[in-house]
Amino acid sequence: MTERQILVAANWKMNGTLETIRPLLQSVIQGVQGTKSEVVICPSSVYISELATLLQQSEIKLGAQNVSQLEKGAYTGEVSALMLKDFGCGYVIVGHSERRALYAENDVMVAKKFMAVQKNGMTPILCVGELLEERESNCTEEVIARQLDVVIELAGIAAFENAVIAYEPVWAIGTGKTATPEQAEEVHEFIRLRLARHDNEVADIVRILYGGSVNAGNAEQLFEMANIDGGLIGGASLVAEDFLTICRAMR
Ligand code: PGA
Repeated sequence: MTERQILVAANWKMNGTLETIRPLLQSVIQGVQGTKSEVVICPSSVYISELATLLQQSEIKLGAQNVSQLEKGAYTGEVSALMLKDFGCGYVIVGHSERRALYAENDVMVAKKFMAVQKNGMTPILCVGELLEERESNCTEEVIARQLDVVIELAGIAAFENAVIAYEPVWAIGTGKTATPEQAEEVHEFIRLRLARHDNEVADIVRILYGGSVNAGNAEQLFEMANIDGGLIGGASLVAEDFLTICRAMR
């Protein structure tokens, strides 16, 4: 089995101002030195340029929270993959449940975003996850399979060699309700097996992050699970000490 490096990605969402993100970033840059995990920060797109400058001497990588599936043109308010690449983004979150729920992104659109990111040499972080009612009606696997299969079909299984998947049960996002490590592991294993149906090697190398109320107190237990390769962190990534504790949590 491949040794997969833990990846901890901060999703700052629509939070912060220059006044608050500068000291936050400063503390994270200093505190993260010497950690073995790979660390990525995804600020709001207006701060990407600022972070690109501030992260120049740091190991921390830059990411974005969303991207247009379209290349360029008359799409007011959109940000293209080429623009993100231009500012040195290495990762782009696609298909976050907030985008799916509040901005009507469907599986095909998410797959197109995934491909736009890769086409520009960046790594997509593909979010999948079920709603509470879906879990309660035992549809978790069906939902995750559908979300994954569309991307596999359109992008091809080989595309996952350079992709990250984030399992984010919607009922656990921003709610303080975390999936137990066992609950999360069960779905992570399912995701890996789903990929393995097409290609064992790809399934073995792809990193699968858990997201949904990861905090300083539960990260270590989650990251100990065999198929959990890190986390996508919302709320806790806005507090330097908490985020750093998560970055230091090891297998
Ligand atoms: P949360 O968000 O950590 O605040 O639950 C995670 C996410 O939405 O990526």
